[in-house]
Amino acid sequence: MMDKNVVLIGFMGSGKSLIACELGRRLNVEVISTDALIEARRGEKIHEIFKSQGEAFFRDLEAETIKEISQRRGIVIDCGGGVVLRKENLQHLKTNGIVFYLQATPEVIYERIKKEGHRPLLTVPDPLGFMKQLYQQRLPLYNQADFMIDANDASIEGPVAEILKRI
Ligand code: S3P
Repeated sequence: MMDKNVVLIGFMGSGKSLIACELGRRLNVEVISTDALIEARRGEKIHEIFKSQGEAFFRDLEAETIKEISQRRGIVIDCGGGVVLRKENLQHLKTNGIVFYLQATPEVIYERIKKEGHRPLLTVPDPLGFMKQLYQQRLPLYNQADFMIDANDASIEGPVAEILKRI
């Protein structure tokens, strides 16, 4: 039985959800996605919450959700890309968890997600430029994770093996 939580953070499109699912399957533990939990509880998609209530409102919901699920043990937590924006989120997540930052460059990420329409932060005139900017801003925050995992490769096998080795 896994005592700690495995927590995945990183930019949108870094593979958190796929890797979280695979870890859950291999470890035979529950996987909780903060975004999916917020959507299920509110009956609204993230982009709808952003549009109707604004980003600050979403960040409040996210912080509440993190605080609550950080108290659990032995689960995999797939975090939204912006969880690092509030310092207390990482503090809560680290209480019972080992935090892994899935690192991928803005270019790699952009190639992966450019065809998806559900990400509110990318509906801007120059999405790649915006992502590069966001990446620079967030890098020091993501670097507060316990471990950095290279997630630039299209296959999730490497990152999954690396995480399993460290827990
Ligand atoms: C966000 C990332 C999204 C989602 C929201 C905001 C961000 O999650 O929480 O659109 O600020 O980076 P994913 O990283 O799962 O796409």
